[in-house]
Parts: sequence; structure tokens; C-alpha cells
Amino acid sequence: MHQPILVQTREELLQHVRALHARGERLALVPTMGFLHEGHVSLIREGTRRADKVAVTIFVNPTQFGPNEDLDRYPRDLSGDLAKCGEAGAWLVYAPKSPSEVYPEGFQTWVQVTGLELGLCGGSRPGHFKGVATVVAKLLLLLRPHVALFGQKDYQQLAVIRRMVRDLDIDAWTEIVGMPIVREADGLAKSSRNTYLSAEDRQRALSLKRGLDAAAEQYAGGERDAARLVEAARGELERGTDRIDYVELVDADSLQPVQRIEGPVCLLVAAYVGKTRLIDNLVLGR
Ligand code: PAJ
Repeated sequence: MHQPILVQTREELLQHVRALHARGERLALVPTMGFLHEGHVSLIREGTRRADKVAVTIFVNPTQFGPNEDLDRYPRDLSGDLAKCGEAGAWLVYAPKSPSEVYPEGFQTWVQVTGLELGLCGGSRPGHFKGVATVVAKLLLLLRPHVALFGQKDYQQLAVIRRMVRDLDIDAWTEIVGMPIVREADGLAKSSRNTYLSAEDRQRALSLKRGLDAAAEQYAGGERDAARLVEAARGELERGTDRIDYVELVDADSLQPVQRIEGPVCLLVAAYVGKTRLIDNLVLGR
């Protein structure tokens, strides 16, 4: 099996990336926080179809975690991740050896996508998308990929990144590609955080997908009233989870709440199972 190049400093990364661009090769970027699963792997594989080389970044970005979140216990497995990257066909892995590689002393510039970052996950995780947008902007500017791939699992994150890339003219160089949610056989959306779940909580976690399915069934039966679909999803979530963070039906592009479904919409859910916060979503009408 081919092993990707591992680089851990910005300087080393730049040497490889500059040489690649000088050769005129197409580059795909897959930013991650590591502890890779098949969701991440699907992005890397798609990258190999769309470019000559795929770079994966593995960085548990401290600026997107709130003070009481799981930064310190976020799961890590660099050697396992390297093997998965190699198997999926990645060319290079950038795993900064410390956060100061990304945020050197004196760092004080932030990217904020005002508006899109306010509701949903942004509502319960203030500052989260500022951290995400900033680190993703930095990676896009550092690697200047032709294409960057993100999962629809993090639907609001993808919307924030698409907006940022347009607003900052990064789209002059980089196309953003959104990829479908990869799920476990029983429907649970794959997530590095699923590893926190006990066997019992793992079963209860299925209620997120059940909630989405309940709403999808009503939609398929012709229901177009947003409140009814939200109610259907909420019922399932109330049965299985310990605390609902939000259940919202929004316009698929603007992420603004809708009352009646007339175009493509996204139903998004976030809930706690035990101490673990899980998210999932479903696009309807597209
Ligand atoms: P992370 O949670 O590691 O996810 C990295 C990428 O994998 C994201 O684009 C995410 O949407 C995608 N992904 C995660 N689970 C998926 C699944 N089940 N199916 C398909 N894609 C999935 O998202 C982040 O890291 C960070 O916020 C990051 C963008 C790297 C910035 O720090």
C-alpha cells in the first residue's frame, strides 16, 4: 500500500505544494480533524477522481471549540489515519505538529460569515463558525487547491464555506464540492464523535435518523407545512435523546426558516445522547 507524504510544518507543506503547482498538477484538498472514518474516506476518493493529487489536513482546530466543549478529549489516531489516507489514494497529509504552526504568536485575523453563522449550530456554539471559516480560509490560501471537498453531514459548515469562498474571491482558484452523508448500516451518520457513545447510547442515537425519516415520510405523503414536519422529527428525538438542541426546517441555500415548503429545504437536527452532541440533516425537494 502506498503511504502518503507526512508533513508537520507549514514550511515543509509549502515546499511540496509549490513544487506540485510548478508541475502544473491539479490539487484536491480534504480538510479534517482526523480520527478518519468512511465519510472522510469518501471525500478523499472523490478528490482522486477530480484532481491529480489529494492533500488531506488533520488538525483538531482549537479555535472552533467552545470553552466547555470536547477539545481535550477529541479522539486522535495519526498512524491509523495515515493508513486510511494511503488506502484512499491521498498524496500528502498535513498534520501540524502544534497549534502554533497554524496560529503563531501574535495571530489576530479572523474570518466571519455574518448571518449564516448565527442560527442552528452557530446559536448553540458561539464562535464555532468563526474558527471553522478562519482555519478553512487559511488552508485554502496555503494550498491553493483546484477543488476542496466537504461533507453535507455538516450542512451549515458547508454553507458557511461556500459563502466565504465566494465573498473572498477564493472561488477564482478553488471549486467547493459537497459530498453526501455516509452512514452506518443502520442509518447513523458516521462521525468521529460516535466513538464517545456507549452501546446503549449508540442505539438511542438512531433517533436522529428516525426523526428525519419520519419527516421525509410525511413529505413524501404530500405534507408541505414546515411545522408539521418539524413536529414529526421532534417526536422521534424526544423519545430517544436526552436533550434536543434544535430541529429546524430551512431554505436549502439561505438557511432561513421557511413556513411552507415551496423549493429545496433542509431539515436539520442536533441533540444530546448522554453527553455527546450529535447532528444530522436531510435535504428535501432537490
Ligand atoms: P471533521 O469533522 O473531521 O470533518 C471533515 C470533513 O468530513 C467535513 O467536510 C465533514 O463534513 C466530512 N464528514 C464528516 N462526517 C461525514 C459523513 N458521515 N459523511 C460525509 N462526510 C462527512 O468538519 C471538520 O472536521 C472541521 O470543521 C474542518 C472543516 C476540518 C475545519 O476544522
